[in-house]
Amino acid sequence: MVQEFDKVGVVGLGTMGAGIAEVFARAGFDVIGVEIDQAALDRGRGHVDKSLSRAVAKGKLTEEERSGIDSRLVFTTSREDLADVDLVVEAVPERMDLKRDVFGDLDRICKTETILATNTSSLSVTEIAALTGRPGKVVGLHFFNPAPVMKLAEVITTVSTDPETADVVTEVAKRIGKTPVTVGDRAGFVANALLVPYINDAIRLYERKVATREEIDEAVKKAAGLPMGPLTLADMVGLDVCLAVMDVLWEEYRDKRYAAAPLLRRMVAAGRLGRKSGRGFYGDG
Ligand code: CAA
Repeated sequence: MVQEFDKVGVVGLGTMGAGIAEVFARAGFDVIGVEIDQAALDRGRGHVDKSLSRAVAKGKLTEEERSGIDSRLVFTTSREDLADVDLVVEAVPERMDLKRDVFGDLDRICKTETILATNTSSLSVTEIAALTGRPGKVVGLHFFNPAPVMKLAEVITTVSTDPETADVVTEVAKRIGKTPVTVGDRAGFVANALLVPYINDAIRLYERKVATREEIDEAVKKAAGLPMGPLTLADMVGLDVCLAVMDVLWEEYRDKRYAAAPLLRRMVAAGRLGRKSGRGFYGDG
C-alpha cells in the first residue's frame, strides 16, 4: 500500500511548507506545491531553491541530484491540481478559517483515498478532521523547523483516525527520513508541550532582567548541549507561533505554568515576530 504512494501535495509554501515540499521531493516523491497567488508561489519556490543551492554549495547534493529533485517539484496556484495526489500536507497559517477553506476544498477536490494531513502546531487536529467528510483519513503530520534538517515528525491521531491511515502516514514519515512518533491530539502534542513553555520561561527570565538575551541563550546552550538558546529558537520558530502554542495550552489546562509571558504577547502585538519579520529578541542591530 505504502509503496503505491508517490504523489504528494503541499498546501502553503511558507518556511514550513517549502521545507516539507523539499523533504518529499528529495525522498523521491512527486510533489505539487500550492500557494494562494503567484507572489506567494514565487516566494515559496525561492525558499526551496535557496535551500537546495545551499546543499549543492556544501557538496551535500550533486547538480544531477538537484535537477532530479527540481523535476519532481511542480508549483501551482490551483488547488484543483491536487485531485490525484495520495497525500496532502497542509501548512497554511494557523487560523481555523483558513483551515476550513483549505480542507473544504481538499475534501471536494482530492480522490476519496487521499490522506489529508495538517502541519498545525496549535490547532486541534480533531476539529480540522471534522471539517471534512473523511475524518478517518485526516491526521496531523507535524514537522519541526528547519523541516529539511530536524528528524522528528509527530503523527497526530484523533478519535476519528482510521488505524490504517496512521500506519500509512507513519511509513511515509520513515520513507522521507524522519523519525515518526505517534501522539494523541492534545494541546502542544508532545514536543511543543515541553519546548514552548521552556521558551516562555526564558522570556520571563529576560523580562525580569535576570540576564541578557545573550547570557540566557549561552547559559542554556552550554548547560544542556543544545544547538541554540531559547530566545534564538523563539526568533526562528516565530513569536506568533510560540504565543499560539502557549494560548492553546492555557485554554486546554488553565494551568499558570502555561500563561504566556506578557512580553511575548506584546512583541507579537507589535509585529516583532522573529526572523520572519526581521526583528524579534534579536535583529535590532
Ligand atoms: N533549511 C535547510 N537546511 C538548513 C537550514 C534551513 N533553514 N538551516 C540549517 N540547515 C542545514 C545546513 O545546511 C546544515 O546542513 P549540513 O549539516 O548538511 O551541512 C545543517 O542544517 C546545520 O546548519 P549550520 O551549520 O548552518 O548551522 P547550525 O549547526 O547552527 O544548525 C540548526 C542550524 C539546524 C537550525 C540548529 O541550530 C538547530 O538544530 N537548532 C534547533 C532547532 C530546533 O529546535 N527546532 C525545533 C523548533 S520547534 C518547532 O519547529 C515546532 C513548532 O511547531 C513550533
